[in-house]
Amino acid sequence: MIDLITEVTTKRLVLGITGGVAAYKAAELTRLLVKSGIEVQVVMTEAARHFVGPATFQALSGKPVLTDLWDSGNGMAHIDVTRNADVVLIAPASADFIAKLAHGAADDLLSTLCLARSCPLLVAPAMNLEMWNNPATQRNILQLKRDGATLLGPASGSQACGETGMGRMVEPQALVEDIDAFWQPKRLQGKRVLITAGPTFEAIDAVRGITNLSSGKMGYAIARAAIEAGAAVTLISGPTCLTPPVAAKTLAVTSAQQMLEAVYKNVADADIFISVAAVADYYVLNPSEQKIKKDAHIFTLELAPNPDIVANVVSLPNPPFCVGFAAESENLYEFAEAKRKRKKLPLLAANLVQDAIGSDASELILFDDGGAHPLQRAPKIELARQLIEHIAKLQHKGKGDNPK
Ligand code: C5P
Repeated sequence: MIDLITEVTTKRLVLGITGGVAAYKAAELTRLLVKSGIEVQVVMTEAARHFVGPATFQALSGKPVLTDLWDSGNGMAHIDVTRNADVVLIAPASADFIAKLAHGAADDLLSTLCLARSCPLLVAPAMNLEMWNNPATQRNILQLKRDGATLLGPASGSQACGETGMGRMVEPQALVEDIDAFWQPKRLQGKRVLITAGPTFEAIDAVRGITNLSSGKMGYAIARAAIEAGAAVTLISGPTCLTPPVAAKTLAVTSAQQMLEAVYKNVADADIFISVAAVADYYVLNPSEQKIKKDAHIFTLELAPNPDIVANVVSLPNPPFCVGFAAESENLYEFAEAKRKRKKLPLLAANLVQDAIGSDASELILFDDGGAHPLQRAPKIELARQLIEHIAKLQHKGKGDNPK
């Protein structure tokens, strides 16, 4: 049995906030970072404090905000703050602060600690589009990249000044995803991964249908983990309430037939197909276009079997590496391995429905030719990362083909 248990250590991030209207978004960013288990030390420039007060960030991060080079007792805040940090993120990074970074200026706490740091630097620019396009800013950006900083954005769109274009700060949720990705090993760099997720919905009439309790959480977590690992991800999703990862190409479908068609359209480009969707086993023959009126009689639905999407993909002439999922309510090991064999899958991940459906954490067992590999109970994003690691290992060992 292989050991797939990853060490969970708390990451420490210094969040530098500089003077721009996007400083208000740094409050949500702080909340999301803390929520995802990251320890956040906020450092604000004086200009930033004109936009949002430190008390907001203190409440959200649970730590006093540092603002002054001379704050700490020994006058060494610029050294102390980054020595324990895994990364420094400047968000929003104003044009002025980017200029300072590019020239190695050190005239306040934030610029000084950036100069004194030994950990990586991430920069999320936020400014008016003309300021962004200005050759001076572009020169500074180029210099930052040459110096090894990682640029996150900017994004394009409407700006606080009323203009539209490049220069908006990347949204907080997308920044959190970028930061997670930054820390993950790039095990699937250059690979294209196709994923199905969520339930399907098989219409009975204009308002009713047959569906199941799949939340889509596992499939979406796998999409995120694959992106973190460097893959280009296409996510084909049945109806869910979830927000897909920003970097995924997401296609929304409803029925199993639509899911199959979307898979067929995208599978030729895929190196890996991960079939997480809980596809309805049957669809309703002749669904009514109008809402069916109730009456006192017994009502019978005529159902026909849906196509098995993953089995269809496996039997293509040149299939991608296929991974199946199985949610069982009993005899998990026996039923899951039998399913893997029947569907001719090199890898199948299985869990108990009672444990997994709709929950944020579960246990997961991976079945492949080497046997069963149980993964400890963990949040779905952690399980997804371990699954991606396992897929990458199988591919590396040349076991990335589907059984004939
Ligand atoms: O047979 P069962 O539905 O339990 O198999 C589960 C696996 O098969 C999952 O990977 C699921 O996405 C896939 N599947 C499919 N098309 C179906 C039914 C299941 O791709 N019609």
